[in-house]
Amino acid sequence: MTQRTCLAIVLAAGEGTRMRTSLPKALHAIGGRTLLEHVLTAASGADIALVVGPDHGGLEIAAKKLVPQAQVFVQHERLGTAHAVLAAKAAIARKPDDILVMFADTPLVRAETLAQLRAALSKGAAVAVLGFTPADPAGYGRLVMKGDELTAIREDRDASAAERKIGFVNGGLMALAGAHALTILERIGNANAKGEYYLTDAVAIAREMGLKAVAIETAEDDVLGINTKAQLAQAEAVLQARLRRAAMDAGVTMVAPETVFLSADTKFGKDVTIEPNVVFGQGVTVDDGAVIRSFSHLEGAHVGKGARVGPYARLRPGADLGEDVHIGNFVEVKAARIEAGAKANHLSYIGDARVGAGANIGAGTITCNYDGTHKHHTDIGAGAFIGSNSSLVAPIKIGDGAYVGSGSVVTKDVPADALAVERSEQTIKEGWAKRLRQIKAMGKSLGNKKVK
Ligand code: UD1
Ligand code: MG
Repeated sequence: MTQRTCLAIVLAAGEGTRMRTSLPKALHAIGGRTLLEHVLTAASGADIALVVGPDHGGLEIAAKKLVPQAQVFVQHERLGTAHAVLAAKAAIARKPDDILVMFADTPLVRAETLAQLRAALSKGAAVAVLGFTPADPAGYGRLVMKGDELTAIREDRDASAAERKIGFVNGGLMALAGAHALTILERIGNANAKGEYYLTDAVAIAREMGLKAVAIETAEDDVLGINTKAQLAQAEAVLQARLRRAAMDAGVTMVAPETVFLSADTKFGKDVTIEPNVVFGQGVTVDDGAVIRSFSHLEGAHVGKGARVGPYARLRPGADLGEDVHIGNFVEVKAARIEAGAKANHLSYIGDARVGAGANIGAGTITCNYDGTHKHHTDIGAGAFIGSNSSLVAPIKIGDGAYVGSGSVVTKDVPADALAVERSEQTIKEGWAKRLRQIKAMGKSLGNKKVK
């Protein structure tokens, strides 16, 4: 089957006004990926023809970024789904073996489901559609069956009372045999309640031509369409459930999976544990045996083997943790390589830096990477010890095995194995506090006077 050529026509001419945003509907994201990217990913391996509306702001650029060879066609007037498909006539005329018609606002369709549609074509069907049985079929095209064969799809508005009682409905997506597609599509007319060219009429036309049409039953969430922000959130929930399930099936331990948010591209090694309430943005890889503790937020980060992150840690893009690194509570790491065994356990910002193997970053340490105009690098050597509440003013280099005394503001490089302390010397005034309390006890005000 893989030898069969396939064209996926993705319809994205829907204006999406019910989303109430200026962003095109297909560029909204679930699981950290745009709806368009989900659909293109499901169709990967197929040639892509994207059909957009006349003011398709950004869609073409986004599609070409994901699939540089994608062809983009404009449907100038919104005259129906069959009319939209025919906007890609030039691609259809090349007669690929299989044609898949997909909707950019139906992002949860699985690659396996598309493979089932194509398998029906390879077994001889000219048209294959996805059917499901929703709780309420109102609004959907009804699938009129005769035994195993699909004889027609009746749109809700055009259905008779008897047809409206059919509970098995059209999910919208369709597969067409490339050899017949153009003939079928060009025969579709618009004599119906909406005056639109319905793609669904392809079924009855194929039958008239002596060809076969079938319906393949699928799960409702495969064909969940998004028109509103509430449906976007519903699709996100379905996707999250799938991603968590796949991660757990691959061996990840999740204490409370329903509280963990993943991205479609999150990657886990073996024996990883995720505590409750962790968020994975795009581009995170977690290696074997790592533990991500509660309330951590990770994005564009790599967590090395056996590393510990959180609770309450934030890994921003470019955070790269080596083996057995510990990043603790209220520690933010950005564009920094933390080498094996290094620890930053409390309240720190490490940005634009390298922290050498086994180094210890004390509580409250800050890499001062930004001078208001430019970002600068901090390099901390292997085995260095940075005392608590230190500010390392970049660009700066702390040598291997060096110490920085607590509370220092370090502005010059520190050689290997040296100590840098930058703070005023401590003074002790014996009995001072006691004398202060005595003055207060006498009910006297200190005014401008000082305690001696
Ligand atoms: C469609 C199906 C219906 C099915 C339902 C499932 C048709 C005629 N009907 O109905 O049987 O039950 O989906 O949700 O196909 N589009 C264009 N240009 C157009 C018209 C539509 O690009 O001129 C795009 C839309 O942006 C959308 C998709 O095609 O992505 C489907 O169109 P929509 O109007 O939502 O069709 P439904 O009435 O939902
Ligand atoms: Mg629809």
